[in-house]
Amino acid sequence: MNPPLRILMLEDDPAHAELTTQALLESDFDFFAIRVDSRKDFEGQLTEHPPDLILSDYTIPGFGGLVAMDIAQTMLPNVPFIFVTGTMGEEVAIETLKIGATDYVLKSRLARLGPSVRRALRESAARKDRYEAETRLRQSNEQLRALTAHLQSVREEERTRIARQVHDELGQALTGLKLDLSWLAGNLPKGSRTLQQKARALSACIDTTIQTVRRISTELRPGVLDNLGLVAAIEWQAQDFELRTGIRCSTTMMAAETIWDQDISTAFFRIFQETLTNIIHHAGASRVDVTLTLETDRLVLKVRDNGRGISEAAIASAKSIGLAGMRERAALLAGEVLFAGIPGQGTTVTVRIPHSAATIPSEGAA
Ligand SMILES: Nc1ncnc2c1ncn2[C@@H]1O[C@H](COP(=O)(O)OP(=O)(O)OP(=O)(O)O)[C@@H](O)[C@H]1O
Ligand SMILES: [Mg+2]
Repeated sequence: MNPPLRILMLEDDPAHAELTTQALLESDFDFFAIRVDSRKDFEGQLTEHPPDLILSDYTIPGFGGLVAMDIAQTMLPNVPFIFVTGTMGEEVAIETLKIGATDYVLKSRLARLGPSVRRALRESAARKDRYEAETRLRQSNEQLRALTAHLQSVREEERTRIARQVHDELGQALTGLKLDLSWLAGNLPKGSRTLQQKARALSACIDTTIQTVRRISTELRPGVLDNLGLVAAIEWQAQDFELRTGIRCSTTMMAAETIWDQDISTAFFRIFQETLTNIIHHAGASRVDVTLTLETDRLVLKVRDNGRGISEAAIASAKSIGLAGMRERAALLAGEVLFAGIPGQGTTVTVRIPHSAATIPSEGAA
């Protein structure tokens, strides 16, 4: 069973309070009412015994109903506040409703009080439910975002580690093999042509494997990104893209080469790669223009293709997981990604991320 309703009555006339209590009893409320008639007692009750409902007269000597409502709204904004008054004109009544009163009931028509209280309580319960649901949703969004950030950074660390191991350990082992093989080839008995041929074929095979190892390691995480920075990595990726696809890809880097914060560089680079992949799959473009510029507080990457143009539907669709991933990457660094398409003319992807977190060497630093 619900506990009795806690009602705070602001009323200077005990006889009127009695009539109000009577009206509530007649409406079958299970309640517990406290009457106060001064600002001090009113505030004391709000602080020490927060009520479920406030019923207030409009004219209280030394302390107006509007002031009371203002105090209640500040201290307990979710508690319904109903004026029960004999003096309120219709215009004043409407005005009080506009500025936050839940309802008003005239003392000459107290039969209205029961339904008015019921509705107020229903609405405040619904508001509370909605507020709680919104809070839960916000918390779960924040958790998801934190999880995404964590997964992305773990994934990037793992790729960097594997790329390094593949490059260093496999690369070294293969180089060692190649050296041993060339020693062996040099010491084969003269005239053993089949063995010589076999050694040459083996050597060629090792060369190809070395190339493959380099490619795999670079695809996992290009060393240029960590060693030379974002500008070099974008230029390298653009060249590689042009070579693989035959789509002309020009770069204009108007941001001086600086090693930005690794998270920022990684975000730009991965978004750039995703954009190029989309161009291969969807654009049907013959050229791509890439610019990187430094605004006062933001680093801006623009990738423009001359293909069919991304549709509004694709930009807005919840199914565009690739686009969502790009937006999310930028959002984690307080940045944004915008997509714009003109049918038949092409698509522009604009990435803006504040570089405040970036480590820019001071003037004159090496
Ligand atoms: N450069 C582009 N030109 C034209 N359309 C594009 C371009 N980039 C994206 N799109 C459209 O936007 C849609 C959503 O792209 P998104 O990257 O989210 O998904 P996807 O590439 O289809 O799949 P995924 O990236 O998950 O492999 C694409 O299916 C395509 O219709
Ligand atoms: Mg995609």
